[in-house]
Amino acid sequence: MLVCKESSRLCSTLSAWRRQDEKIAFVPTMGNLHQGHLSLITLAQKKAARVVVSIYVNPLQFSPDEDFASYPRTLDDDLEKLKNIGVDLVFIPDTALIYPQGEQQSCFVEVPVLSHIIEGEFRPGFFRGVATVVLKLFNMVQPDIAVFGEKDFQQLLVIRQMVNDLLLPIEIIGGETKREADGLAMSSRNNYLSASERKNSRLLSETLCLCRHQIEQGMAIAQAEEDSVKSLQGYGFVVDYVTLRETTALTAVTAENCDNTDVILLAAVKMGKTRLIDNLKFVYKPHINQAKA
Ligand code: PAF
Repeated sequence: MLVCKESSRLCSTLSAWRRQDEKIAFVPTMGNLHQGHLSLITLAQKKAARVVVSIYVNPLQFSPDEDFASYPRTLDDDLEKLKNIGVDLVFIPDTALIYPQGEQQSCFVEVPVLSHIIEGEFRPGFFRGVATVVLKLFNMVQPDIAVFGEKDFQQLLVIRQMVNDLLLPIEIIGGETKREADGLAMSSRNNYLSASERKNSRLLSETLCLCRHQIEQGMAIAQAEEDSVKSLQGYGFVVDYVTLRETTALTAVTAENCDNTDVILLAAVKMGKTRLIDNLKFVYKPHINQAKA
C-alpha cells in the first residue's frame, strides 16, 4: 500500500494506472475508520481495479463551535486497517496543500438549494465545506468512481449534484449504512458517547423504524414526524429534525405528490455533546396506507 502526502507521487502513480487502463475508485474519508468506511472500500474494490482512500479532516466543513479540534485522529490505526483490507493508495494531504491561501481565503463550491435545507439549516457552511474539499480531492485523484456513505444521505445528493452540474466524469455510488448490533448507525462521532448515552442512542434508529411503521399504517406524515420528535425528546435527545422527504431533491412528501415514491426519513439529534444523524429509506404508498387508517 502506497501512502502519499504530496501530489507529485500521487499523480505519477495514478498516471501509471491510467496508462494500464485500470479503473480508479476513490473513497474520501476524515479517518477514524470503522466498519462503515471499510464497507465503502469493499464496494469500491468491487467496482474498480485500483482503490484510493483519502484521510483529511477538512476544517472548512466545521463551524467554529463544532468539533474540528477534538475530531478523532487515529492515523496509525487507520493505515493498519487500510493495509489489511488491500487498499492500493492512501492520500493524506495537509492543509497547506488543500488550502494554500488558508481555508477562509479559498475559492469555494456552493451547491444551491440542497445545501441550505434540512441539515444545511442547522450546519450553515457545512455542505459548502464538503463540496469544496471533495472537488479539490476529485481534481487531484481524478477517479472514475467515487463512493460515499448513505448515512450522510444529503451529503451524497450534494456531491451528486455538484458532479452533474460541473460535468465531472465521475460516477458517484452510495454505500449502505452499517449499523451496530443494536441498530445505531456507525459513525466516528459515536466515540464521544458516554456508556449510558451509547445505550440510549439505539432509540434513534428504533424511533425511525416506528415512524415508518406508523406512516405505513396510514398515520398522517406530520403527525408521525411530530410523535417521533416527542418520543426522542422523552428519551433525552435534543432534536434538530425528523422529516420525511423524497430521495432525489429532498422535497417534502405529501400523499398527493408522492404516490409509490422512494422516500427517506431523515433525523438529527443531540445526545449530550454528541450530534447523531440517521435515516431510513422506504417506498411511500399513500393509496394503500390511507386505506389502513
Ligand atoms: O463524510 C465525510 O467523511 C466527509 O464529509 C468527506 C466526504 C470525507 C469530506 O470531508
